[in-house]
Amino acid sequence: MTESPGRFALDPFGSDIPAESAKLRDLGPIVPVELPGGIPAWAPTRYDVLKELILDPQVSKDPRLHWQLWPEIGEHPSWGWILGWVGVVNMLSTYGGNHARLRKLVAPSFTLRRTEAMRPRVEAITADLLDALESAGADGRVVDVKQLFAHPLPMRMICELFGVPQELREDVVQLIAAMMDTSDPTPEHAAFVQERIGTVLGSLIAHKTQHPGDDMTTELIRVRDEDGDRLADEELLYTLLLVIGAGFETTVNLIGNAVAALLRDPGQLAAVRSGAVSWDAVIDETLRVHPSIASLPLRFAVSDLKVGDVTVPAGDAIITTYAAAGLDPAHYGGGADDFDAARGADDHLAFGIGVHRCIGAPLARMEALTALPALFERFPDLTPAFEDGELRQVPSFIAFGWQEIPVRLRG
Ligand code: HEM
Repeated sequence: MTESPGRFALDPFGSDIPAESAKLRDLGPIVPVELPGGIPAWAPTRYDVLKELILDPQVSKDPRLHWQLWPEIGEHPSWGWILGWVGVVNMLSTYGGNHARLRKLVAPSFTLRRTEAMRPRVEAITADLLDALESAGADGRVVDVKQLFAHPLPMRMICELFGVPQELREDVVQLIAAMMDTSDPTPEHAAFVQERIGTVLGSLIAHKTQHPGDDMTTELIRVRDEDGDRLADEELLYTLLLVIGAGFETTVNLIGNAVAALLRDPGQLAAVRSGAVSWDAVIDETLRVHPSIASLPLRFAVSDLKVGDVTVPAGDAIITTYAAAGLDPAHYGGGADDFDAARGADDHLAFGIGVHRCIGAPLARMEALTALPALFERFPDLTPAFEDGELRQVPSFIAFGWQEIPVRLRG
């Protein structure tokens, strides 16, 4: 990929997001960048700047209304991957009344009260997975705690909530992994993702139309059928893509990133075990230092925006840089890059803020608050089977998590 003059090309593999965030910060409070495939955008590099932009009503999420490059996307084959993020019409890519309408259809199902009712099921799945992990890791075998524990827990839970049948679950996992993979911004990859969105989620809708149940897909199909003004056909497809995808991939990395951070630092693990530091604090510190979404495409300037001495012109694209904000020393002080659960920093932006704030935050927190203590209680001698620097980041500048987390259950 060629780098256009004056633009910082983001690493499509996200190989070292903290180092990249530091480099960007040195360039100013908001920096012109090039996303994979050469898409131009702006990257805020400071906590305060990111927060202000997210909350600014002059910043939109609807490319159809507010992205000056939207009409020419088809002329750039390597930009096609962005359509999986902003070309799909759901609450994440809409603005104003459309956003409120689409959010209202799903958000009431994820309130604190509704989430609390899911706890027994989360506990049961956790217990089941811990049994399976124990068998897999018998006789000192190395096991991947991401694949066998962090991944299947949120995955099973969201699939149960949406009534995803067993035979479609692996396809859903592969689709979301392909969407998150930004290392291959080719037209072929983009076409594959688009085809899979239609086929996999189309199959889910067809299945639930034939076999309705007590699940959220059935409920959304009913809304579409009764009142297409509230939920159009393609909005149904893309809402399922968003909520099912966001509903597991992010929480997988929250659990995995927390496990890896604690395994690397026995002192902090001991403080958590003794009760000196709470599991809530571990979760917040994980989200600050290692947020499951490092950066999210895209927002758009509705009018010219002033950020310090810089003007972001109306119609330009902006990415929301949660990792850079969490690691900002101007907000979190000198050791901002260090994982320190005792610091009590719970003002991170990792779940977003404002009208688009994550609707699944209570569920993600409840799942992690169930999974993490259960794992470390069941296996008091859990030890890393990896050296510092050995874990590999998933190939993405969006998702921020490890590909595998090899451990031994009994030291
Ligand atoms: C650790 C776990 C999670 C993290 C870090 C996370 C992060 C985020 C962030 C940063 C946003 C804001 C996007 C923006 O402002 O553009 C967001 C929105 C959203 N999240 Fe989550 N999320 C997590 C878990 C979940 C879960 C479990 C669900 C589903 C139940 C979910 C569903 C959504 C949805 C539907 C939105 C869009 C809200 C809107 O645009 O109005 N997320 N999430």
